[in-house]
Amino acid sequence: MSCKWQMLLSLLTIFIFFSNFTYGYEGADSHFQSTPLSDEFREGRNEVFAEGPNIVEAPVQSSSLILAAERTYRKDPLNGFKRYNGGWNIDDRHYWASVAYTAFPFFITALIWFVIFGLCLLFICVCSRCCKREPYGYSSMAYALSLIFLALFTIAAIIGCVILYTGQEKFHSSTLNTLDYVVHQANVTADTLMNVSVYLAAAKQLAVDRILIPANVQTDIDYVQTKITSSASTLSTKTADNKDNVEHLIESVRTALIVLSVAMLALTFLGFVFSIFGMQVFVYILVIFGWILITGTLILCGIFLVLHNVTADTCVAMDEWIQNPTAHTALDDILPCVDYATAQETLTKSKEVTYNLVDIVNQVITNVSNINFSPNFAPFYYNQSGPVLPILCNLFNPDLTSHNCGPAEVDLNNATQVLNSYVCQVSPSGVCVTPGRLTPTLYSQMAAAVNMSYGLYQYGPFLVDLQNCDFVRQTFGDIYNVHCPGLLQYSKRVYVGLVMVTVAVLLSLTFWIIYARERRHRVYKKEHISKLDEGVEVEGDKPTHEE
Ligand SMILES: *[C@@H]1O[C@H](CO)[C@@H](O)[C@H](O)[C@H]1NC(C)=O
Ligand SMILES: *[C@@H]1O[C@H](CO)[C@@H](O)[C@H](O)[C@H]1NC(C)=O
Ligand SMILES: *[C@@H]1O[C@H](CO)[C@@H](O)[C@H](O)[C@H]1NC(C)=O
Ligand SMILES: *[C@@H]1O[C@H](CO)[C@@H](O)[C@H](O)[C@H]1NC(C)=O
Ligand SMILES: *[C@@H]1O[C@H](CO)[C@@H](O)[C@H](O)[C@H]1NC(C)=O
Ligand SMILES: *[C@@H]1O[C@H](CO)[C@@H](O)[C@H](O)[C@H]1NC(C)=O
Repeated sequence: MSCKWQMLLSLLTIFIFFSNFTYGYEGADSHFQSTPLSDEFREGRNEVFAEGPNIVEAPVQSSSLILAAERTYRKDPLNGFKRYNGGWNIDDRHYWASVAYTAFPFFITALIWFVIFGLCLLFICVCSRCCKREPYGYSSMAYALSLIFLALFTIAAIIGCVILYTGQEKFHSSTLNTLDYVVHQANVTADTLMNVSVYLAAAKQLAVDRILIPANVQTDIDYVQTKITSSASTLSTKTADNKDNVEHLIESVRTALIVLSVAMLALTFLGFVFSIFGMQVFVYILVIFGWILITGTLILCGIFLVLHNVTADTCVAMDEWIQNPTAHTALDDILPCVDYATAQETLTKSKEVTYNLVDIVNQVITNVSNINFSPNFAPFYYNQSGPVLPILCNLFNPDLTSHNCGPAEVDLNNATQVLNSYVCQVSPSGVCVTPGRLTPTLYSQMAAAVNMSYGLYQYGPFLVDLQNCDFVRQTFGDIYNVHCPGLLQYSKRVYVGLVMVTVAVLLSLTFWIIYARERRHRVYKKEHISKLDEGVEVEGDKPTHEE
């Protein structure tokens, strides 16, 4: 059982794909730290968790939104069978206990079946040795009825096997599709972060002489770049690991269900044939198989019911979380999203940096490169000559509104190519010896600045989406709208198939025994009568049958 729980949990680790990133990114800047409010909330929740099962009423944060409250209002065996009211929360064992409790009828049925039927088998076994000589009434009515029921339950079992088989195929493909979608989203995130990181890597080249990027901005950028790179690689490896684990789990479930439905089908068929042809020994061997198999499938029914319920809870929880973007929920622990204001601040910062980088390049162009200094202005003079440089088109105005490029301004897309045509050849002392207004060093610094500005402009909004969980919201929305209906429908179908197969095989198994006995007595009676007809003396130790 604990292994199954492990599996269920690992299904839910898909959420943690996202959390790994956000945690990594959180430290990148002091602005990305979670708000004190959510820290308080977390501490509050940890207290709740530490209180243990003896607490009568688990306190629920009044300020927080309880996810899937209606669905998860179940009896909690860890809390004296009081109703659990903490909502969807995979960190809360009360939640798990109350979901697991929904399968209690199946587990108790499995136990009862195992014990009662075991006792019945024992009884029959003992009877067939000791009570063999009991007179037994044969009625053709009972014989016909048992045959009819046997046929009916065999058909029902076959239909159940078909439902189970088709259901598990659909369930398999819908879980795989969901997994692929989540992995795809994680891949896109990791890819984009890697792209961002490539742009930010250019920051190292800014460290050289003439262009002056403030040192703290420099280290900030370096820090963010390292963080983003490590987040991206963590995300990639976690995704790959979890994908493998979950895929492995999905395949195991599939194999188990196929083997089960084939085994049940074979059992039903063989049992039917053996009992029709009166092969007592084989029937009893199959009955023992079936007895154990049915105990197993009853437990499996319970597990699938729990799986179905957890999936449904999760789907509802995701939807409610999307619709209440500002509420504190159990997901806060998994997804430390920043609030709107903080996200806006990050966006403003990234725009500021985008603007400043190109602004500095433009200032150097107008104040240094395009001016013919006399050789005694040492740092600014490097024998610049030839046609003047155009200025670059900044993507933002100083007030950070969007800027439309003037006709003379160079688009950032091809700024590096345009600037490249103004590079001169330099002497060992760093002075131009050919016409041109940029030394190669200056050019590479400018190119790096342009590159970074462009990268931030392109990927800034995406980073903010990650920071405030808009990206996750969109992913959850897609899962809820596209993948949840299939997952729910097919996990239910597998569950229904399992229940149907179990009940049908359980009943046909009973009727194998009944029918086999009826048949034996019928055959015996026929022999008895024919022997009487032939006038053969019936041996004294044979049971006597009265009609
Ligand atoms: C995700 O990325 C890995 C490696 O980077 C790749 O093998 C895998 O096919 C990608 N998956 C999807 C769904 O794009
Ligand atoms: C990352 O950059 C590569 C090459 O520049 C590009 O092909 C790819 O589409 C980018 N990926 C994302 C997610 O932006
Ligand atoms: C460049 O010149 C402008 C005025 O033309 C001035 O405001 C600015 O401070 C100068 N920048 C540098 C880096 O000298
Ligand atoms: C730069 O791009 C613009 C349009 O994006 C184009 O008109 C121009 O010719 C390009 N210049 C160079 C040098 O590639
Ligand atoms: C300055 O550049 C010109 C070419 O534009 C070159 O002829 C001249 O020798 C250079 N002067 C020095 C001192 O290198
Ligand atoms: C930015 O720099 C990277 C490497 O530093 C380079 O691969 C990429 O092409 C550059 N992009 C632009 C737009 O200049």
